[in-house]
Amino acid sequence: MTEKHIETTLINAGRGKRYTQGSVNSVIQRASSLVFESVEAKKHAAANRAKGELFYGRRGTLTHFSLQEAMCELEGGAGCALFPCGAAAVANTLLAFVEQGDHVLLTNSAYEPTQDFCTKILGKLGVATSWFDPLIGADIATLIQPNTRVVFLESPGSITMEVHDVPAIVEAVRRVAPQAIIMIDNTWAAGILFRALDFGVDISIQAGTKYLIGHSDGMVGTAVANERCWPQLRENAYLMGQMLDADTAYMTSRGLRTLGVRLRQHEESSLKIAEWLSQHPQVARVNHPALPGSKGHEFWKRDFTGSSGLFSFILKKRLNETEFASYLDNFHYFSMAYSWGGYESLILANQPEEIAALRPAGGVDFTGTLVRVHIGLENVDDLIADLEAGFQRIA
Ligand SMILES: Cc1ncc(COP(=O)(O)O)c(C=O)c1O
Repeated sequence: MTEKHIETTLINAGRGKRYTQGSVNSVIQRASSLVFESVEAKKHAAANRAKGELFYGRRGTLTHFSLQEAMCELEGGAGCALFPCGAAAVANTLLAFVEQGDHVLLTNSAYEPTQDFCTKILGKLGVATSWFDPLIGADIATLIQPNTRVVFLESPGSITMEVHDVPAIVEAVRRVAPQAIIMIDNTWAAGILFRALDFGVDISIQAGTKYLIGHSDGMVGTAVANERCWPQLRENAYLMGQMLDADTAYMTSRGLRTLGVRLRQHEESSLKIAEWLSQHPQVARVNHPALPGSKGHEFWKRDFTGSSGLFSFILKKRLNETEFASYLDNFHYFSMAYSWGGYESLILANQPEEIAALRPAGGVDFTGTLVRVHIGLENVDDLIADLEAGFQRIA
């Protein structure tokens, strides 16, 4: 048989007989204590507790193992650590690989809490952080220090959506700092539109809260690691007491089954809207990785197999307070809320100086108000009509 396609893997991954036990979906095994039939069985479980044997709830149950196996197959990893949210996945994955005196090199387009974790928590532990421009490419070699232990990527970048040249970054880091661990926040690509580990990244992190769960009703973080990093990540996550409840693990696996079709629709609708916006007289620029002119578009085109539903655009004008409220308060289908990746459309806006404050040593190159949208699964013409009414409110 030819190798199966990603849509088929999304349906079947983690659905072996051990996990489904006669049903279609994996069982929900809620447990703290897991009972051993004999002393011999307990010994066997203890020896294999890191290899998928049932041992104790904090090490996972069949429901977790099913999800972990699926994530490894989808992202091509040796192991997958599960966390109660994306921020916990980011924090604990970073923490697993640094010690006092180390240095972390972080994209300045990273999600704000990732930056804050580095400066406020790692800083307190004696780990220094410095930043790189998301479009730096091979020049990242010049920023590596003898103590650089982690290079942390996020592509596309939060809010401004720059796509890294990951192969160039990986090649440069490996050349000058073979000791460094390369991690990526791969949430926008749902771990599958950009298979980070295939590009030499060590660990692919996701806020599964977004596309994996897909319905805005749960929180989960995943970190899929290669052979080199998996033992250390697994042990550190375990020692930090990081686990997910079985019900949310089940919801995450359930989300995988429809991820392929959801992503296809998010992509189609968001592209249609991004193209419409790029022609709109009130829009200065659209930051959508799949649109020519968006920063790092050429890297998206080369390395990604598709796009998802989150992007931003910049208005020609900077809205005053009244316009800002009138614009955002009156959408019918776009809710104003944090997060993204669910079936519903969302909208948020920021003034340029607010974004500049999140770009250490970077700043921004625009003066209008920035709007970030997540394009959900509603009818795309209804969404365009809603957005057009918004433009009329601020004309
Ligand atoms: C890119 C990115 N990474 C990580 C997170 C954190 O995920 P969570 O909200 O599940 O903690 C978010 C949340 O918005 C995010 O946008």
